[in-house]
Amino acid sequence: AHQWRGVIREYADRLPMLAGAPVVTLGEGGTPLIPAEHLSEFVGANVLVKFEGMNPTGSFKDRGMTTAISMAAKHGAKAVICASTGNTSASAAAYAIKAGMTCGVLVPEGKIAMGKLSQALAHGAQLLQVDGNFDDCLTLARKLGEAYPIELVNSVNPARIEGQKTAAFEVIDVLGDAPDIHCLPVGNAGNITAYWKGYRESAELPTGSDGHATKRPRMWGFQAAGAAPIVKGHPIDEPDTIATAIRIGNPASWEQAIAAREESDGLIDAVTDEQILHAHRLISSREGVFVEPGSAASIAGLLLMHERGQVPAGATVVCTVTGHGLKDPQWALKAADGSDLQPTRIPVDAVTAARVLQLEG
Ligand code: F0G
Repeated sequence: AHQWRGVIREYADRLPMLAGAPVVTLGEGGTPLIPAEHLSEFVGANVLVKFEGMNPTGSFKDRGMTTAISMAAKHGAKAVICASTGNTSASAAAYAIKAGMTCGVLVPEGKIAMGKLSQALAHGAQLLQVDGNFDDCLTLARKLGEAYPIELVNSVNPARIEGQKTAAFEVIDVLGDAPDIHCLPVGNAGNITAYWKGYRESAELPTGSDGHATKRPRMWGFQAAGAAPIVKGHPIDEPDTIATAIRIGNPASWEQAIAAREESDGLIDAVTDEQILHAHRLISSREGVFVEPGSAASIAGLLLMHERGQVPAGATVVCTVTGHGLKDPQWALKAADGSDLQPTRIPVDAVTAARVLQLEG
């Protein structure tokens, strides 16, 4: 029987950097591209959701971690380090263990979702909680990577971008071509950089060859309004949003994100926490896809563009939802009006259960 072999083996010919490296994999990639019927009807386009929560540690980071840790193994690294708002740490910890390396993780004070913290701890990472925000953590991680024998696996490491570009390849493989528009959340801006690289490379493949795309999508990136440095045009000293994954004030790949926007005739805009939570609720309750709040920024952004009348009718739109809802499940326990959602308690009695379920007797 065939099993998906992870992005390095599936796309070996398009990841030249990895040639000759030992392959450290947990079978990442090959995630579903799910048609979103309700959203499609609502915005008048053909909307598909790339569900990256289906990766081994529950986020898209695994695509870049298989490559970063494999390269670290090739270099003979014994230890890796990263700064993280949570998902990178969970992924780095898992792949480091798989490779027999130790993993140091720098996380900002508070604001890390419980699911992500548990993962990093479960995989035996050395978790250092820094008295600062994500941007401070990244500065620290860079310094450690430069001055000590420890490999930095944040997305400033080119191997991360190389691995993450495979998500664009998968979209093209499923659709037969690039979409018209690709929406995604933007935090440190590594992922928009990676998708754009993947789309560019696919368009450059010879016509008719495997994986060739006839066009490149417009890249639509969305930051949280309280953490929107690229939209505002300057770093944000104290970024704030309930979407802790993208609570970042000074993205490392800022320039590359701008390039993706300019070269693709795209945009980078901001969505409020309220819009994020609305989108979060919508895709769980209407599409059956459970994501963490940061991931819903792509959906919130699409809804915002629809509101502005800027979604071309009939366009094919892919929205990446970057992380699984189980990472940070507390947001599902509130209704739109802010009230608590709770199970209905019943005795062990079929008639009562049937009444609550409004079944015909
Ligand atoms: N969505 C989720 C769920 C994330 O965890 C992140 C980034 C992003 C979107 C944004 O991607 O940084 O490439 O623009 N999380 C990083 C982390 C910062 O440490 O886990 P980006």
